[in-house]
Amino acid sequence: MTDCRCIVSQRSGRRFSPEFATTGRSSGAFDLALINLMAGAPSESIFCEFPARGYLETYYSAVDPENAAFVRSVTEDIWPLSAASDSAIEVAGGPCLYALMSLIASRGPFKDVAFTDAGWRTLREVECRLQDHPSRFAHDPLLGWLSDELGIEGGGLARLLRASRWELARLDWRRPVAPTWRHSYDVVCCHYFAASASDDENELVAFLQKLGELGRPGATLLTSFVCRAAGTTIGPREFPAFAVGQRSILGYLERAGLELEDVELRSAPSKDPASSPGYEDLLFVSGRLAG
Ligand SMILES: C[S@@+](CC[C@H](N)C(=O)[O-])C[C@H]1O[C@@H](n2cnc3c(N)ncnc32)[C@H](O)[C@@H]1O
Repeated sequence: MTDCRCIVSQRSGRRFSPEFATTGRSSGAFDLALINLMAGAPSESIFCEFPARGYLETYYSAVDPENAAFVRSVTEDIWPLSAASDSAIEVAGGPCLYALMSLIASRGPFKDVAFTDAGWRTLREVECRLQDHPSRFAHDPLLGWLSDELGIEGGGLARLLRASRWELARLDWRRPVAPTWRHSYDVVCCHYFAASASDDENELVAFLQKLGELGRPGATLLTSFVCRAAGTTIGPREFPAFAVGQRSILGYLERAGLELEDVELRSAPSKDPASSPGYEDLLFVSGRLAG
């Protein structure tokens, strides 16, 4: 496996050569571009060094009731809400492919997928999964769940994942949306990010505004939030968060100018509210951007 720090390059408009893009792959070639939009502009964000594998092990080792609610929120809300659904973007997806794997398992591949995050380790985890590299995170619980619920087995899903053109982009979402991405996506996914990366409500609203800027008119927006969380603890590291609740998040979406149609709200109780830092529940908000 080539280290992501070595293989990412400045966005140049060209795709990497197939040999380069498929370093470490163990099965058929597919279209994968690795893009570094942070090069030359060092970010002081603590998330650049986000401990991706520890995060996956802490939060995504099982399809427990929380993760089942998460996966259901994307697989069940995509059908009534879907527009053309040819392209999808994951905003600050971290190392987590739960949403995209579930979406693709339920509806088939997108033509184009942009997967973004500030952390280089997070994108390396995604690349490992797409390349089927031996060191990839074990997604067996999710694969088992998707097989039971949607009747698709792991090998078939891996093929569907690789049927899309992938862009793994390292970037800081505090910066403006790139002009080429504006109003370009049919599905905009953003899970457990906006509040976890915000110090105050202005930052939160600015992140939410960008979701609206990415979607085409009528695009499907799939988002989730951890309610009343003080932050995330992964091993010895703490990542503070701005606390939101069900009512306040709807107000922030409105302040961000997101006029959502067919809004669907779901929530799942925290499996361990007394844990540190602890949180009350998970909130899933989906809808269609105004057409
Ligand atoms: C709590 S994790 C959520 C990850 C994933 N979306 C999920 O569903 O589990 C927050 C993610 O936001 C990323 N992040 C934080 N601030 C960011 C920023 N300004 N720009 C881009 N990514 C950022 C972190 O690197 C991390 O992967």
